[in-house]
Amino acid sequence: MLLLTCVLPMASQQTRQRPAPASGPEARIEQLLRQMTIEEKVGQMTQVTIDVVSVPNAVGRNHRLDPAKLEEAILKWKVGSILNVNGEAYTVEHWHEVLNQIQDVVEKSRLKIPVLYGIDSIHGANYTLDAVLFPNAISAAATWNVDLVKRAAEISAFQTRASGIPWTFYPVEDIGRQPLWPRFFETFGEDVHLASRLVTAYVEGLQGRDISARDKVAACVKHYAGYSMPFNGKDRTPAILDERTLRQVILPPYEAAVRAGAPTVMVNSGEISGVPGHANSWLIQDVLKKEWGFRGFVVSDWEDIKRLHTRDRVAPTPKDAVRIAVMAGVDMSMVPYDFSFAELLLQCVKEGSVPVSRIDDAVRRILRVKMQLGLFDRPRPDASMKAEFDKPEFHEANLQAAREALVLLKNEGLLPLAKGRRILVTGPNADLLSVLNGGWSLTWQGNREDLFPKNKLTIRKAIEQWNGAANTQYVKGVEWEKAADINAAVKAAEAADVVVAVLGEPSYCETPGNIEDLALPEPQIRLIEALAQRGKPIVTVLVGGRPRVLRTITRNSKAILWAGLPGNEGGRAVAEVLFGDVNPSGKLPFSYPRNVNGFTTYDYKPLENTHDNPTGWEFPFGHGLSYTKFDYSDLKLSANTMTRTGSITISVKVRNSGSRAGKEVVQLYVSDLYRQVSPPNRELKGFQKIELAPGEEKTVEFQLAAKDLAFVGLNNRWTLEPGDYRVQIANLTAGFTLR
Ligand code: BGC
Repeated sequence: MLLLTCVLPMASQQTRQRPAPASGPEARIEQLLRQMTIEEKVGQMTQVTIDVVSVPNAVGRNHRLDPAKLEEAILKWKVGSILNVNGEAYTVEHWHEVLNQIQDVVEKSRLKIPVLYGIDSIHGANYTLDAVLFPNAISAAATWNVDLVKRAAEISAFQTRASGIPWTFYPVEDIGRQPLWPRFFETFGEDVHLASRLVTAYVEGLQGRDISARDKVAACVKHYAGYSMPFNGKDRTPAILDERTLRQVILPPYEAAVRAGAPTVMVNSGEISGVPGHANSWLIQDVLKKEWGFRGFVVSDWEDIKRLHTRDRVAPTPKDAVRIAVMAGVDMSMVPYDFSFAELLLQCVKEGSVPVSRIDDAVRRILRVKMQLGLFDRPRPDASMKAEFDKPEFHEANLQAAREALVLLKNEGLLPLAKGRRILVTGPNADLLSVLNGGWSLTWQGNREDLFPKNKLTIRKAIEQWNGAANTQYVKGVEWEKAADINAAVKAAEAADVVVAVLGEPSYCETPGNIEDLALPEPQIRLIEALAQRGKPIVTVLVGGRPRVLRTITRNSKAILWAGLPGNEGGRAVAEVLFGDVNPSGKLPFSYPRNVNGFTTYDYKPLENTHDNPTGWEFPFGHGLSYTKFDYSDLKLSANTMTRTGSITISVKVRNSGSRAGKEVVQLYVSDLYRQVSPPNRELKGFQKIELAPGEEKTVEFQLAAKDLAFVGLNNRWTLEPGDYRVQIANLTAGFTLR
């Protein structure tokens, strides 16, 4: 077979470093660089957490900066960046005070270089009180709605910048293929195409065309790269990844976000194939900076440069750790508790183990982002934004996102429920807002129920409102991990027509969210078994960030709704779907495993097909039911051959043959029948979300170009290979040949 190694835009970009022009922002940066002392330069590369400059133990509403510590950080150590919130979310007013106080000190410094403040605005401006809390990424991905995802990003940017903060450590480009990983919910799911499109939309929403605008922020691509693939599923444990898999599956979403203009990148806190992220000069220097031409800066993750010495043991001393990371291409250190990085880097420069040219490169990149953000001209928060912080349309957008994030996994004629029937609501996640939001919600772990707004509805409260409180009873039944009073729930079920069981996980984030077993804890499974024995129809609603294995729950439930982490409007959206006010339209952005070792993604390999149970899914990727019915017909290809520079149009008719309006995600899959490296079963190459009235039919078209068929070949380069391909939309298939 003839092999063509093609030059594709994806992988072949040459470095775009140019000589600095004589005027404009780049000239301004060069002029500043010439004025800066080496101490000022290593200071720019240093980032500390707000605790370092705050009065100890004064959190949340009591938080206060310590003026002396602030002066030490900015005037003595010349730090370039500060991050985080100490403990819990602040009011917009307090954020303005903090940012203004920081700028007051900057103005006493020699060169008055603004401090870049960074925050984790993960699903909205989650560290500002009263900000809109959107669905977390895994649920945002379940909407398959690119416009909604972009809108969420715009509002997150608005409320973050309105708080005076110009930089968010988001979006996450890590692929979600390891369901045990406690950060699975921060990903846009398992698919490369879906995740790449959503991160692109997110970056565009955060940044607009000009990140210096009063309502825009700079995005940070993270965690570069391979962080999401820990072999054993625990956070910050080793991943084993070869270059081909990296380039084919892991890197494309990061590259998409960089191409969309994200000016900062955060490094993977773990290691791949023995190389810690912060020592991986191939990934940072060669791929990101040279191959992709990235001109922004690279920030470390929390304390991770130190950990090259203390944890990873690739650096015999803390100074070696600094040298290794900086020479690998890390431009800024999230130290974050002290100034040791600046001190050690200075020593490295003095002894010649880090050349000044590398320092200049890093500082140039940092100053460039500060310049792009307009911080040199407008370093202070925009006071007029305070009054505009909250708008009804923001909450409406959030409600729409929550509605479309809900995935109806199973429905044996039980849903939608008629209002006014006797309903028992049970389960550990029925009456909490924290669990609808998950980690990164007002606090890092997101589990401070008292901090959530009182005007938002839990699932229980929403069901009471929709169904009438008199018809609705609530008995918790079980805690997450232990049986509380299953008997009381069973007894209450006797008087009910229907049971709504809200199961799942508590709120968590990062390492505290590690689990030993992907199955839902035993008491929750037993609750459903005990209720099912009474013969009452059960709707199970799943709330949490991971697909926990359901065991007997699937067969014991007549209906199952995956709510994931739908955000602050999730309670209301769940009630609207249960009672049929809203027709569900979400689709799984991951394969829901049936067993704890059933981690097979939808694009599995032929080799996996040779086992008795090739897929082992409880529910497949892309699955999601509706209250109406969609019929697919007339799959057509504009040609049955394609040239290596050509494309074809694929069209299909979709008809709503049911009796109510609904949204459908039309998914285009392509299978390469043979290739030099064993091909995936199929790959998603396009999707469109459409809305159809009852009886309405639409023709949906996709353009498929030859470059979309490229894969990473034996030589680890993007390759096109002539041969036969199969196209699949719903249950229709067709074929074409690439010549
Ligand atoms: C996380 C990052 C986060 C950073 C700053 C780290 O622990 O891994 O995702 O951006 O903290 O809060």
